[in-house]
Amino acid sequence: MEDGIVISRININDKIYSQVYDLRENMLRKPIGLSLKNEDLRGDASNMIFAAEKEGKVIGCVMLYPIADEEKIKLRQMAVSEEWQGKGIGRMLVEAAEAYAKQQGYSTIILHARTVSEGFYKNLGYYTTSSEFTEVGIPHVVMEKDIF
Ligand SMILES: CC(C)(COP(=O)(O)OP(=O)(O)OC[C@H]1O[C@@H](n2cnc3c(N)ncnc32)[C@H](O)[C@@H]1OP(=O)(O)O)[C@@H](O)C(=O)NCCC(=O)NCCS
Repeated sequence: MEDGIVISRININDKIYSQVYDLRENMLRKPIGLSLKNEDLRGDASNMIFAAEKEGKVIGCVMLYPIADEEKIKLRQMAVSEEWQGKGIGRMLVEAAEAYAKQQGYSTIILHARTVSEGFYKNLGYYTTSSEFTEVGIPHVVMEKDIF
C-alpha cells in the first residue's frame, strides 16, 4: 500500500469536486467517446462521493447513489487514474463506501459493472445477478454484495 493516500467523503461544494469530475470524464467517459457535459449531473448533489487523494491530487473516486430501496444503495462512477491503477486504490475506495453504507443502515450494495471490471468487483466479494446488457454503449452486468 502506498503512503500518503487519503480517502475522504466529499460533496459537490468541496473544492476537489472539480478534480473528481475531471477524473470521471477522463477515465469513464472520454475512452468511450462520451462526455459528462451531455449528462444531467443534478443527482450528484444527493450522492455520497468518496475521493482518494495523494498530496492534494485526486487519483480515484467512487459514488454511492440512494435508489428507491431502503436496503440497497447503488455504487457508481468507480475510477482510478491510469498511473495509480493496480495499487489497491480501487479496493480502498470500495471498502470506504461499503463501511459508510453499512453505517447508514444499508444491507446490500448494487452496481452496474462494465464486464471488463467484473473481475475487480468479484475479487471484492460481489456476485453477478444479471445477464449482460448495454449501458453507455458498452456491456455491463448487475452485481451485488451483502454488507450486513
Ligand atoms: C477497475 C478499477 C476501478 C480498479 O481499480 P484499481 O485501483 O486498479 O484496483 P485495485 O488495485 O484496488 O485492485 C483490487 C484487486 O482487484 C484486482 N483487479 C483490478 N482490476 C481488475 C480487473 N479489471 N479484472 C480482474 N481483477 C482486477 C486486482 O488485481 C486486485 O486484486 P488483489 O487484491 O488480489 O491483488 C480501475 O482499473 C479503473 O479505474 N478502470 C477504468 C474505469 C473503470 O472501468 N471503472 C469501473 C467501471 S464499472
